[in-house]
Amino acid sequence: ATVTYDFNIGWVTANPDGAFERPTIGINGEWPIPRIEANVGDNVIVHATNHLGNQSTSLHFHGLFMNGTSHMDGPSQVTQCGIPPGSSFTYNFTINQPGTYWYHSHTGGQYPDGLRGPLIIHDPKSPFLGQYDEEIILTVSDWYHEQMAVLLPAFNSKGNPTGAEPVPQAALFNETQNLKVAVQPGKTYLFRMANIGAFAGQYIWFEGHNMTIVEVDGVYHQPAEAEMIYMSAAQRCSFLLTTKNETTANYAFIASMDTTLFDTLPEDLNYNVTGWLTYDEVQPFPEPSLVDELDPFDDMTLIPYDNQSIFGEPDKTIELNVIMDNLNDGANYAFFNNITYKAPKVPTLYTALSAGDLATDPSIYGSYTNAFVLEKGEIVQIVVNNLDSGRHPFHLHGHHFQALYRSEDEAGTFENANVTEADFPATPMRRDTFVLYPDGNIVLRFRADNPGIWLFHCHIEWHVTSGLIATMVEAPLDLQASITLPQSHLDVCASQNIATVGN
Ligand code: C2O
Repeated sequence: ATVTYDFNIGWVTANPDGAFERPTIGINGEWPIPRIEANVGDNVIVHATNHLGNQSTSLHFHGLFMNGTSHMDGPSQVTQCGIPPGSSFTYNFTINQPGTYWYHSHTGGQYPDGLRGPLIIHDPKSPFLGQYDEEIILTVSDWYHEQMAVLLPAFNSKGNPTGAEPVPQAALFNETQNLKVAVQPGKTYLFRMANIGAFAGQYIWFEGHNMTIVEVDGVYHQPAEAEMIYMSAAQRCSFLLTTKNETTANYAFIASMDTTLFDTLPEDLNYNVTGWLTYDEVQPFPEPSLVDELDPFDDMTLIPYDNQSIFGEPDKTIELNVIMDNLNDGANYAFFNNITYKAPKVPTLYTALSAGDLATDPSIYGSYTNAFVLEKGEIVQIVVNNLDSGRHPFHLHGHHFQALYRSEDEAGTFENANVTEADFPATPMRRDTFVLYPDGNIVLRFRADNPGIWLFHCHIEWHVTSGLIATMVEAPLDLQASITLPQSHLDVCASQNIATVGN
């Protein structure tokens, strides 16, 4: 089937924590923005019109492979030009993967202003069908009272030489607080959760109920019991939750922001948000009890439902060292190795499409894109060493990766870890966003079976704006043979005098 959405993107006002009303980016006059829902196999068409007046925009469908349609992936100056105010752009792609995803602006640090929402792909062949009665979609997020247009220039300035990220004012469930989720006794629900926030990882737990995790980031895994989960920005998880047999009480569920990410802890910060599983409106809504020791489920213990084996030894290993440092302007930047990403004027995809055989030469993509050219079909390993003291949730576009290894905090680089091929799991868990611990390392592996231009970046939006991005140029010659740019690509670039093909 074809599912079509007409999205008019524009400013509305919102006050989700009841403390401050501010301009927020909505769709069709509403915020929270609508969810996108489709079935596996559907063709999805999103007509996006930019009514913001003062900012360009674009939409990224986080976690979708965009197989054959890399030009629909959304990051501006990567696979398209930003959609300028007053212009429209049509996204058109086919979805062949199930699960819990989200979509968000992928232009200039914009999504924390509100342009972020769930994207759910139902699967008529899910192995867990029949094990639950209903689905409940639940987002968790963080919220700033100031707009990004105010926060970003201050963050990326010499007035902030340590690169301290702004601390959010509130945590939200479904972009609100005091959310009541109505449940019935003796039923099993499939909760689909997404952290659509900009910065904070969150600990999540339900009082009096356990979670059985069955999916992370769109990949089914063997059921695993959890009392508490940790979700970084951009991670998703679905779990089964069975309700009590009686309706004599309501139960709190809590998301608690990971304050270790914050350089300062404002005294009045309430870093928790509470919602309630509501069995009976006339029963009390209990305050959650305090949890001082947080012990979340470790996603490294997950086993994929399909038992896919570890890919063989890599054909190519890309080693990325995360460094935070100041440049001559006194501001703090984030680097992979010695490069802090700067967006090219011509989107990287267009450079790849117009370069002929030269497209396999990484140097044509400019000095600041951190471009790595991947060959069709090869096994690629990415090793990320964190030379920084913060947690970073890394996301790869266009793929799920096998997560082979994650060190503890302070473990140093992978090279020094004394870990060999035999130490990796035989059936590693797969996802698209994976947390790297402070001064630690991670190892990821995937097969380059999806020609396209795919970013690899930290999903903390502050670090996106300070340059923690690399560009995977995957099988560019195959890409040239498979993509013809539709008119809306040409139009939004032409209106900004940016060459698309052949410059
Ligand atoms: Cu959720 Cu580069 O994206």
